[in-house]
Amino acid sequence: MKTRTHRCGELRKAHIGQAVTVCGWVDVKRDRGGVVFILLRDVSGKVQLTFTEQHNKALVDQTREARHEYVISATGKVTERDAENRTDKLATGEVEIMVESFEVLNTAVTPAIEVRDDLKCDPELRLKNRFIDLRRRPMQAMLQARAALVAAARKTLEAEGFLDIETPILYKRTPEGARDFIVPSRAHQGQFYALPQSPQLFKQLCMISGLDRYYQIARCFRDEDKRADRQPEFTQIDLEMSFPTRDDVMELFEKVVVAVVDALQSDARLRDMDWPVLKAGKLSLPFERMDYETAMRDYSIDRPDLRSRDLRLTDLTGWARTCSFNAFKGTAENGGLVKGLRCPGMAEAFSTGQLKNLERDAKGMGATGLANLKVTSNPAGNGGALGGGIAKFIPEAEQKAMIAAFNAQPGDLLLICAHEKHKIVHAVMHNMRVLIAEKLGLSDPAKFAITWVVDFPLFEYREEDEKLFASHHPFTLPQKAARVHELAEISRKGREPHPVARMLHGGVKLEEILALRNNQYDLVCNGVEIAGGSIRMHRTDWQADVFELIGISKEEANKKFGFLMSALDHGAPPHGGIASGVDRLLMLLLGLDNIADVIAFPKSATGRDLMIDTPNEVEPALLKELAIELAAGKRS
Ligand code: AMO
Repeated sequence: MKTRTHRCGELRKAHIGQAVTVCGWVDVKRDRGGVVFILLRDVSGKVQLTFTEQHNKALVDQTREARHEYVISATGKVTERDAENRTDKLATGEVEIMVESFEVLNTAVTPAIEVRDDLKCDPELRLKNRFIDLRRRPMQAMLQARAALVAAARKTLEAEGFLDIETPILYKRTPEGARDFIVPSRAHQGQFYALPQSPQLFKQLCMISGLDRYYQIARCFRDEDKRADRQPEFTQIDLEMSFPTRDDVMELFEKVVVAVVDALQSDARLRDMDWPVLKAGKLSLPFERMDYETAMRDYSIDRPDLRSRDLRLTDLTGWARTCSFNAFKGTAENGGLVKGLRCPGMAEAFSTGQLKNLERDAKGMGATGLANLKVTSNPAGNGGALGGGIAKFIPEAEQKAMIAAFNAQPGDLLLICAHEKHKIVHAVMHNMRVLIAEKLGLSDPAKFAITWVVDFPLFEYREEDEKLFASHHPFTLPQKAARVHELAEISRKGREPHPVARMLHGGVKLEEILALRNNQYDLVCNGVEIAGGSIRMHRTDWQADVFELIGISKEEANKKFGFLMSALDHGAPPHGGIASGVDRLLMLLLGLDNIADVIAFPKSATGRDLMIDTPNEVEPALLKELAIELAAGKRS
């Protein structure tokens, strides 16, 4: 094999006259009777190899040996293409190589999927043949972007004095929200490791070890229900710092995001791509901040898409309490929530059938209905300014008050959802907002609307089991640690089975518990949570208080987190950090909507690796060594 002198995609007019050797895959071969063209592809792009009978007849005959996806090397002279052969579709489109010799380095069977940029085929077929799929330019560019993203994050963090520290993959079960993947131990039969959902506690331990600033491009494993933006194994840019304020962590992470975007925008390898990040322009700093309460009030979600910032929801609960429409009134009186969305100028945007479909979608989310009203300057019936649906149940004065609450104009459509369960109203109204924003053309993927969301609730309450859960994770510092301590003391003294019941019995109101706030910060872009973090508890007593309130007893805490409690007792510095999902961030920057498209070797929708075919069965002898017996029906 001759030594390669250039990559295919590098050749330009400046190389004309030079003798070069290139290597790659046969992308396309065209035989024009007496002249054969081979488009040769490697990671840098494609170049045209030209063989002419005039030049060398034997060589033209020999091109029969070079078929689609064969690996060849070719040597020849770079020449300028004729005017009619020139193309601006290829970076090398002004030149070609007049081949003097070539060699087939390897043959190839016909691939199961085509190596073409605009391939449309069954996603599972792509996953099964991933090594072929990755030959395609969009996939190679994605991997180049991914590497550039990680390199930019590393460079920024290294410059800020962060130390790259690897933490164990064979870890222990901890409560971080998802189900764990577990790994049986042979040396300790009957015992299991868990794969880390994140390196959370190790990075805190690094701070306690005095390492000051930790980072890691960390693999995380979560056995969660599948979604388009989730994978069971994914990657985080994970960091932790000692003695920070909340602002320090947020400002530091803003630098990382800006560096990442800059890196992609200035990477010459990626210029041919049509990605939102390449059209978005520079990000401006500092990023906006919004508190959780505002996000929920205006957008019914803690990760609002601010590309449609002016499309705000209206809380009609106060209006509903005194209204004449019984369904709304009853909901408001029973502590429920009534919210509406003003869809500007959209009174005629949906047919009756389409509005019915919207209501059907809302019902699918648990709602009892979705009311629609049209603001009209020419009202039918009762003299009010609203038409359609439930307008006839709402007297004129109430209609006026509602229109004022919405600040609505003639020609607007109003969508309203009422339910005793606030969660259902939020889910429905968030979804409606997304849909209407889309319809109004307010969801341009090349516009990045970034915001921090802060001041999250410390706890979530799950009525079903009367339990509190940490809304970020249980290591997040409450905003009022002293009050949390008082609540924990009340809980410790109570006799009821659950901390919530004990606090209620001790005279604490549930509203107070739910109004407690933490020191969490999430970074949200276009409605996607791209990073989340918090300031942590660095004192054992504070940590013990939060464990008490989420129902982890002292014994259980010592059993599960003895290492953390002990470490916190040994001079833990105040510390905090953040983690960003590399995959989600990349998806957003490249405008892709399936997380599998930003991972070299992802799992399928059912969590399988279709190419290497795993998970799979193991030999009975191995199971025996692990002292594991499979349930009947699960044996191979
Ligand atoms: P959190 O659980 O919020 O925080 O995760 C941080 C970021 O990781 C990404 N992410 C995921 N990406 C792909 N697939 C998944 N299944 C998945 N789950 C999460 C998201 C998310 O914003 N240890 C804390 C961070 C900290 O407190 O410092 C943590 O892991 O982009």
